[in-house]
Amino acid sequence: MDKLRIEGGVPLHGTIAVSGSKNAALPILFASILLDSPASFLNVPHLQDIETTLRLLRMIGVSCENEDHVVQTEPGNLLPEAPYDLVRTMRASVLCLGPLLARLGRARVSLPGGCAIGARPVDQHLKAFEQMGARFDLEGGDIIGRTSRLRGAHIVFDMPTVGGTENVMMAAVLADGTTILENAAREPEVVDLAKFLISCGANIVGHGTPIITIKGVSSLSANTYSIMPDRIEAGTFLAAAGITKGKLLIKHCPYQELETVINKLQEMGMQITKTSEGVLAELGKAGLHGTDVKTQPYPGFPTDMQAQIMALMSVASQSSIVDERIFENRFMHVPELIRMGAKITISGHTAMIRGVSHLIGAQVMASDLRASASLVLAGLAAHGTTNVRRIYHLDRGYEQIEKKLNAVGARITREQQ
Ligand code: UD1
Repeated sequence: MDKLRIEGGVPLHGTIAVSGSKNAALPILFASILLDSPASFLNVPHLQDIETTLRLLRMIGVSCENEDHVVQTEPGNLLPEAPYDLVRTMRASVLCLGPLLARLGRARVSLPGGCAIGARPVDQHLKAFEQMGARFDLEGGDIIGRTSRLRGAHIVFDMPTVGGTENVMMAAVLADGTTILENAAREPEVVDLAKFLISCGANIVGHGTPIITIKGVSSLSANTYSIMPDRIEAGTFLAAAGITKGKLLIKHCPYQELETVINKLQEMGMQITKTSEGVLAELGKAGLHGTDVKTQPYPGFPTDMQAQIMALMSVASQSSIVDERIFENRFMHVPELIRMGAKITISGHTAMIRGVSHLIGAQVMASDLRASASLVLAGLAAHGTTNVRRIYHLDRGYEQIEKKLNAVGARITREQQ
């Protein structure tokens, strides 16, 4: 297992480029199960979760080639099974359920278990598929879904679920009749999936709003689609400029999709400007000061940036409050930040952060993807050396993070644990 060794205290300066979005690429690649023709996907990030998705697609019967951020897929004889070994390493594997039910009328998908950031059930996905005419049995930890034919339905989600909206949207594009999704997720990655499906001939309106209407079509065929840039990676780089008191030009930064995050970072004292070459981010003269953040579905503050902004709050003047409203157990980074000298107390889903003058390098353990990013940010700003262990979480969601950060002045080495 690898660890990252970070020599802290170096301001980052220079240009850094954002890769394609992991959370957009995953559903879009799963949507290739729906296609009758080969497809090419551009700007696919080079990540562990993408490799897992391609392995799963190949097992299902979709041929996949992956070279230099371009994935080519070709439909073959589909096999409706997603085994536990793959699903357990990536919860998003459940996104093959909708496309398989739509194409084959059956699917056997291992039920994703809990993960470090909470129980994360898929009841909303299953309830919607049942309304569309599917039946489910549980056998040996696998969900077995069957339907003679999916039909359109009026579905009201209990909460705006990103994965649920994507899974059901993929099923509905080939279902008989019209599906209406109410209280749908509005995340930009849901919109990117809808745009891809529309480019293949799907009939979808309302994506990006809480009500999405999908009229089923008989078949879909694709050619080339470019995945949107990763707003969470971009947000992490913005935070890196602030916490190291550096100045970064962030290329391919999806400014509009990051507006809530940018507003908060500006409130904390960062100067962030959109230019023709990218987004320029630096810390203002007054330094970092505290703020309050409540995570919410898009367009609210994203839970996937909560751990990273908390690293900044740890070294801000004044106190900050973080209210985590999307996931339970999403404060796994807090005990690790405390090991680095942060002053944080947790009460239920709220964390109170009292800023300290500086963090001190320490041995810390990554527990999930975004917690790992928070620890890297803390390590970049800390006095001394920080060793971040269990970075396989980081490799699931950040493409070559140490290479990108070292190119703008960071001192990070990847070492065997
Ligand atoms: C996606 C993102 C993840 C992000 C999250 C919230 C991907 C691959 N992952 O995860 O990075 O943190 O959105 O923005 O895109 N819920 C239920 N029942 C369900 C579905 C969800 O109770 O059937 C709950 C979840 O436990 C959670 C909330 O709804 O509390 C939101 O989850 P959801 O939006 O579905 O997250 P994911 O799609 O798993």
